[in-house]
Amino acid sequence: MKTLKTLSIFFVLLVLSCGGNDETKKESSKVKLKTTEKKVEAKKTTTTKPSETIDLVNKGVGPITSVTLAPEVDQAMAAQGASIYKKMCTACHKPDKKFIGPAPKGIMERRTPEWIMNIILDPEGMVKNDPLAKALLMEFNGSPMANQNLTEEEARAVLEYFRTL
Ligand code: HEC
Repeated sequence: MKTLKTLSIFFVLLVLSCGGNDETKKESSKVKLKTTEKKVEAKKTTTTKPSETIDLVNKGVGPITSVTLAPEVDQAMAAQGASIYKKMCTACHKPDKKFIGPAPKGIMERRTPEWIMNIILDPEGMVKNDPLAKALLMEFNGSPMANQNLTEEEARAVLEYFRTL
C-alpha cells in the first residue's frame, strides 16, 4: 500500500510538471513567432559598379568633343594603338581582366569614343569634372588613371585598338 501511494504521488507530480513544461513551450513559441514577424525583409539594392555602368551619352570633359568612327576597324591604326597600349598602359591595364585599372574589353559598349579619349588625354581634368570618372576613381580606391602624355593621334589609335577587343 505504501509503495502504491508513493507511486501515485510520483505520477501526479510527473503530470503536473509536464503540464507546466507545456505552458512554457507554448510561451516560447509565441515569442518566436513575434520576432519572426518583426523581421523586416532586407531591401535588395542593385548597384552597378561605375566600371560596369553603361553611358553612351556622356562625352566627358576635355579636349575631345567629337570622334567619328568608320564602320570598319582601321587595322593599321589599331595595330599602332596596340603597340602604344603595350608600352604605356599594360603596367595598370590588362586587356580583358580588371587589374590596377579596369579592363578595356567591351569599353566601346559602355562609353562614348570621346569620353575614352578624354580620360586618356586628360585624366586629371576628367576626375575633377566628370561624375563618371569621379565614381570610377572611388571604385578603384582613389588610385588615379595616369596621364601618359599621349598625343591626340596616339590616343585615337589606342581607341581604334579598343574596338578590336
Ligand atoms: C598607373 C596606372 C595606370 C596607367 C599607366 C594607365 N592607367 Fe588607365 N586607369 C587607371 C586606373 C586606376 C583607372 C580607373 C580609375 C580612374 O579612372 O581614375 C583607369 C581608367 C582608365 C580608363 C577608363 C576605363 C573605363 O572602363 O571606364 C581608360 C579608357 C584608361 N584607363 C585607358 C588607359 C590607357 C589607354 C593607358 C595608356 C596610355 C592607361 N590607361 C594607362 C590606371 C592606369
